[in-house]
Amino acid sequence: MIVTIDGPAGAGKSTVAKLIAAKLGYIYLDTGALYRAVAWKALVTGTDTTSPAAMERLCERIRLNILHTQDGGMAVEVDGLLLNAQIRTPEVTRAAAQVAVLPQVRAWLLPIQQAFGQRRDISGIVAEGRDLGTKVFPNAPAKFFFKADAAERARRRHEELVTAGKAADLAQTRQDLDARDGRDRTRETAPLVTAPDAIEIDTTKLSVDQVVDHMTRVIGEKEKAAGLA
Ligand code: DC
Repeated sequence: MIVTIDGPAGAGKSTVAKLIAAKLGYIYLDTGALYRAVAWKALVTGTDTTSPAAMERLCERIRLNILHTQDGGMAVEVDGLLLNAQIRTPEVTRAAAQVAVLPQVRAWLLPIQQAFGQRRDISGIVAEGRDLGTKVFPNAPAKFFFKADAAERARRRHEELVTAGKAADLAQTRQDLDARDGRDRTRETAPLVTAPDAIEIDTTKLSVDQVVDHMTRVIGEKEKAAGLA
C-alpha cells in the first residue's frame, strides 16, 4: 500500500504521516529530508546550490542511505554520516529549496524514492513531500493533499522552532515560508500541485487526531478496493 501526502510547509504532513505509519505498521518516508541532505552536503563541500552542473556532479559522488528507526521515524545518512539536526537549520532549509528546483537533483532522487514502492518486505509506506502523488508514485491508491492558511502554517513552524530551542521571529518565519512556497509552486520541474485524484484536506481548523482518523478510514477503504485488506 502506498499512501502519499503532498502540500506546503507547515500543513501538518510530517506529524500526520508519522502517526499514520505507526498506526498501520507502515514505513514513513520523509522526502524533504532527502533534498535537505543533498543541500547539506553541498553547503559543507562549498558546492554552488544554484548550479545545475555542480549539483549534478555532487549527486554522482555521494552515497545516500535511508534508515528507519524503531519508532516509525526515518533518518538519512550521507557518505556514512547520520544526519539529524544538521539538516533542520535555516541555512539548509533555504539551500534545500534551491536544490529542489534543479531537474538534475530531482531526477537523481526519483529512483531512490521509488525503490521504496517496490519493496516486498514492507506492508506499506506513507510518503510525504511535494510531488509524491504527481511524480514519484502516480499510481498510489491513496493520495492526500494538505493545505492550511499561511498564517496558521507560519504559527506552527514558529512554534516548532521555539520548542526546538531556536531563536525565531514569527514575521520572519512567515516571510521565509511564503518565499519557499512560491518557489515550490512555480518551479518548472515537479511543482507543488494537487494530483487530480488526491483528496484535499484543509488542516487549518482540524486537530491532528481528526486528520489521522479521517485518513485511516479512507486508507482502509482504499485497501479494500485494491484487494489489500
Ligand atoms: O518538507 P521539507 O521542508 O523538509 O522540504 C525541504 C525542501 O525540499 C522544500 O523546499 C521542498 C522540497 N521538496 C520537494 O521539492 N519535493 C519533495 N518531494 C519534498 C521536498
